[in-house]
Amino acid sequence: MTTNDSINKVVDILIETKNITALTGAGVSAESGIATFRDPEGLWAKFNPQELASIDGFMSNPEMVWSWYQYRVNIVNNSRPNPGHLALVEFQNLNKVFNLITQNVDGLHQRAGSDNVVELHGSIIRNKCFNCNEIHQETIIIENKLNNCKYCNGLIRPDVVWFGEMLPEKEIELAQELATNTDVFMSIGTSAEVYPAADLPIIAKRNGAVLIEINPYITQLSNYVDIRIDLPSGEALPMIIDEYKKRTLK
Ligand code: OAD
Repeated sequence: MTTNDSINKVVDILIETKNITALTGAGVSAESGIATFRDPEGLWAKFNPQELASIDGFMSNPEMVWSWYQYRVNIVNNSRPNPGHLALVEFQNLNKVFNLITQNVDGLHQRAGSDNVVELHGSIIRNKCFNCNEIHQETIIIENKLNNCKYCNGLIRPDVVWFGEMLPEKEIELAQELATNTDVFMSIGTSAEVYPAADLPIIAKRNGAVLIEINPYITQLSNYVDIRIDLPSGEALPMIIDEYKKRTLK
């Protein structure tokens, strides 16, 4: 099947369906200049996740962890949503139920205009107290030094999920419910290696959804999906939306 055939098949299915759910990963933001994690040039090829993305790492060197996140916040602040993010906003206007779940912490879906994004791994832009968990929205993120909680004096950390931590309960429960009840599930720009997010496409397919993957490279999900589009999401998603509009506006 050619890429165009796959796009056409996806559009056939979308036209007929009432309910679409998308799960995005770091690949969706790659075309905005934000590094992925597991690609050859990804963050985990250069940095040690145990040192930079775990409770033990933060406890043993909070300054280093905080400044690494500030470095990433700066990249995010200087980036812009790409055509993939913008096409996902258009999915909200198809007169269908559209749910967007993301593993990304960069807030680019929301900046593009997506509503009700389910953030499974938190947000790099938001901070919280390491001790009392109070959320801190203030502009402390632009300072490069460690900050203390105004309520309990604990250290401020980014409000992201680190290795070994539980996902926010409300978000993962909602995501599992959406995956269970959707007609179509699109896994976009994720290696589908990190659980429990990686279970969502499986849950959807076991419950009867058509499973679509958009990713220029093969993942461990690729053999299990019904349709694969092997293009960057910033190309594939606008192509899908354009084709959908062309057919439905006739
Ligand atoms: P990964 O880095 O594991 O996977 C990124 C995927 O994006 C790969 O499969 C690439 O092939 C694909 N990709 C690269 N460029 C793309 C493009 N332009 N369009 C579409 N796909 C592209 O990132 P995630 O799957 O998001 O967790 O990783 C999951 C979690 O692991 C992250 O949320 C993070 C990390 O540890 C936390 O921070 C808690």
